[in-house]
Amino acid sequence: MMAGYVTVTKQQSLDRSISCDIFSAMHIIRFGLCLSGILMIGSASAVAAVSGEAVYAKRCAVCHEQVNERIPTHAALSMMPATRIMRAMDFGAMMSIAYPLSREEREAVAGFVGTKGGDAPPPASAFCSDRSVRVNDKAKFVWNGWSPNGDNTRFQPAAVAGLTVDQVKNLKLKWAYAFDGDVTAFAPPTFFDGQIFVGSAGGMVHAMHADTGCLQWTYQAAGPVRSAILTVPNGKQHALLFGDQTGWFYALEAETGKLLWKKHIELHDTARLTGSPVAHDGIVYVPVASWEETRSANPDYTCCTFRGSLVALQVKDGMQVWKSFMMDEPKESGKSDSGKIKMGPSGASIWSAPLIDLKRKLIYVTTGDNFSIPATLTSDALVAIDMATGKIAWSKQVTEGDVSPSEKGPDFDFGSAPMMVKNPQGHDLLVAGQKSGLVYAFDPDKKGELVWTVRVGKGSSQGGVQWGTSSDGQNIYAAVSDRGTTRGTGPGGQPIRIFDTSVGGGLTAMKIADGSKTWFVPAEKCTTPGCSPAQSAALTTIPGAVFSGSLDGHIRAYAAEDGKVLWDFDTVKDFKTVNGVKGKGGALDGAGPVIVNGMVFVNSGYPRFGGLPGNVLLAFTPDGK
Ligand code: HEC
Repeated sequence: MMAGYVTVTKQQSLDRSISCDIFSAMHIIRFGLCLSGILMIGSASAVAAVSGEAVYAKRCAVCHEQVNERIPTHAALSMMPATRIMRAMDFGAMMSIAYPLSREEREAVAGFVGTKGGDAPPPASAFCSDRSVRVNDKAKFVWNGWSPNGDNTRFQPAAVAGLTVDQVKNLKLKWAYAFDGDVTAFAPPTFFDGQIFVGSAGGMVHAMHADTGCLQWTYQAAGPVRSAILTVPNGKQHALLFGDQTGWFYALEAETGKLLWKKHIELHDTARLTGSPVAHDGIVYVPVASWEETRSANPDYTCCTFRGSLVALQVKDGMQVWKSFMMDEPKESGKSDSGKIKMGPSGASIWSAPLIDLKRKLIYVTTGDNFSIPATLTSDALVAIDMATGKIAWSKQVTEGDVSPSEKGPDFDFGSAPMMVKNPQGHDLLVAGQKSGLVYAFDPDKKGELVWTVRVGKGSSQGGVQWGTSSDGQNIYAAVSDRGTTRGTGPGGQPIRIFDTSVGGGLTAMKIADGSKTWFVPAEKCTTPGCSPAQSAALTTIPGAVFSGSLDGHIRAYAAEDGKVLWDFDTVKDFKTVNGVKGKGGALDGAGPVIVNGMVFVNSGYPRFGGLPGNVLLAFTPDGK
């Protein structure tokens, strides 16, 4: 039996349920394709050698062999590097179309269509004149990893934020950097005294200088990098630790960008290392998630075999210390109506950053739903794992029997990391928000017993609290997605589904003691047809202000006192960028802003679940100076 397992869960819809709900410029095409994909596509898990030509004929030709002003022709695609075509499928314009395709099929079709060799490197003009990288781990101005402090509250104290509430209203764009060839920007930067490290949807990791956004070095990972990059001392130098969206985990030398080691820590081909790693005492802890549940829509797919896990690795060489699965190994668990074997248990992805509790020698994670039966006790749960052994010490489930979508469970993953806060009596509480629209406070001294539960949104598979709550020690802040869709008309008069501009969003401040509401502010109106006011992105706080991004592309700061909007910047526009690449802003989702040393960093572009594409990292300062 593996290290800790007890049962499992998974969460996902955060990254999985994609599918047919996409409404960007191409919604009609995507929608149609998506449906046909699910109904017609053959076994995505086929083991036989995959022919790229056959995948192309079946999955791509219908569009790319025709003349259409919006669709690049086969001839045009064949001038693109295969790596970029992979990226278009993994996290770019072809994401929803490629969803049913396995890794092998993607690689085969990219190899068939595209050229060999990688992407063009950034132009020399994008680099700093002085490319030396210095990481000062005694620095005052640091944001390292998912949260600037080990409690996952995403709270930056005044001295480190270097930004007062009074200055917030004067925030202006200082520079924009565009990720070349990407339509998504979702990796939060890590900051040490003006030195930044940031990943990208194209899988390029960048060392940059915060003053100007110039590059010092780049490193190309095998898959998209959206986890925050954790910097830890490594001898006289430093190691940068991060995962990609294909199950690989990396350590780079911060000073040079040189690969120290990489490990394929999860071999399931739907694996995603979305949650940011945390580290202590030479060990890094990596949460593992998956989008396998999407595949269950395909009647030919044997659903499901992925198990969420937390993996502990030695920082010095990547050697695995333990891997703690959220459940037992899957076995045959029944037959579908069409006679297809079902496998289970499965799921319980860990989508967010773990929380280290040195006092109790535990590490906590939140989990998502189960993908297939049997349901487990560790899905939609807070799970406490022994740091030394990887054994599950206890788990507290909040939604029972959530097997989704195969058994029509509600799909109430936790996508938000657990936060550690203190109540007014000085007792520790663990707090986490769920896609159900509920925020929970758990007692770490009573095996996660619930102290309070508060509803802050309606909740749904893409609703409720998605990517992260925040706390300034007084209040807990939780924003909700709760996006909705409605009927619309496509350019050709076809009926399509578009975002409902009047549904979603809202920000709640509640007291740590009992969850009682301090204030609630509904979403700001969004007016562009098809926009969504959903507030799905993680929150960030500084003393006096809460920052929240919206799917409508706005980043806003709210007064911690009463929820009044202090600052509002619309990122949906074209940007002139410091690296000369065309920059475009879009939806804000996923990671929240990073605030440090008087700078506010915001990613813009998230074309999933109908969000607007974009490719920029934006840096704001008071008056743009
Ligand atoms: C339903 C129609 C449709 C299908 C099927 C389709 N595509 Fe596309 N593809 C498009 C359109 C439309 C664009 C232009 C998107 C844009 O510019 O936003 C595009 C753009 C692309 C691009 C360029 C993206 C970039 O980064 O510039 C690539 C690469 C691509 N498709 C690959 C594929 C592959 C590989 C397949 C098959 C697995 C495929 N497409 C299937 C419609 C389709």
